[in-house]
Amino acid sequence: MKILKKGAEADVYISSWNGKKSVLKIRKEKKYRNSSLDTRIRKQRTIREAQIISYVKSFGISTPLIYFVNYKNFSIYMQYVKGKLIRDMDEKSIPKTCLQIGMIAGTLHQNGIMHGDLTTSNFILTSKHLFVIDFGLANRTEKPDDHAVDLRLFKEILNSVHANVMKKSWKNFITGYEKSVGKKYCKKILELVSVIESRGRYATVV
Ligand SMILES: Nc1ncnc2c1ncn2[C@@H]1O[C@H](COP(=O)(O)OP(=O)(O)OP(=O)(O)O)[C@@H](O)[C@H]1O
Ligand SMILES: [Mg+2]
Repeated sequence: MKILKKGAEADVYISSWNGKKSVLKIRKEKKYRNSSLDTRIRKQRTIREAQIISYVKSFGISTPLIYFVNYKNFSIYMQYVKGKLIRDMDEKSIPKTCLQIGMIAGTLHQNGIMHGDLTTSNFILTSKHLFVIDFGLANRTEKPDDHAVDLRLFKEILNSVHANVMKKSWKNFITGYEKSVGKKYCKKILELVSVIESRGRYATVV
């Protein structure tokens, strides 16, 4: 099996499922965690990822199809999405894509889902759609504070990984987000982002 990514939490392989090219994501053991807690966390994240990836399709978000879940060895077989990772795209095209990412983030929030790892490494652009992946840290939550955490992380990623196009990208992201959630809610979440930033641990991102 060809390894796609060795992550901190999971290894991702190119594999095959029922003759279809697929992605196999296996959550690894964390030795520093107490073993029964570790098992519980890996099981919970595996199940949650599979459930939420499928659930969000019902409100028009493109995500990989789930082929098979094995919560005993913490693995998921899913559709291989052929496309380009947004993080690796030409800088020039990042701002435009951020408009779409903002709309997707807004749609998720409006439907009570926070992504939990909203970064440009978790979006794949195919010839037709922008796919969202990696729902291992996603949650069902209507809490504005949780939604603000998604936005704050995305802003931080723009600032660190896409610094040259940060301003335009963030502006577009907000425009897209506002399209989905409306002016009032968008304003509220942006205020909460400022609150998070003012908590010291985080520096304000301009
Ligand atoms: N369905 C998929 N189709 C194509 N490529 C994928 C797919 N799923 C994952 N990948 C590739 O593998 C990388 C890692 O996958 P993913 O983001 O799910 O894992 P991770 O970030 O290690 O996970 P986690 O944050 O849950 O620890 C992605 O950035 C992407 O390049
Ligand atoms: Mg990821």
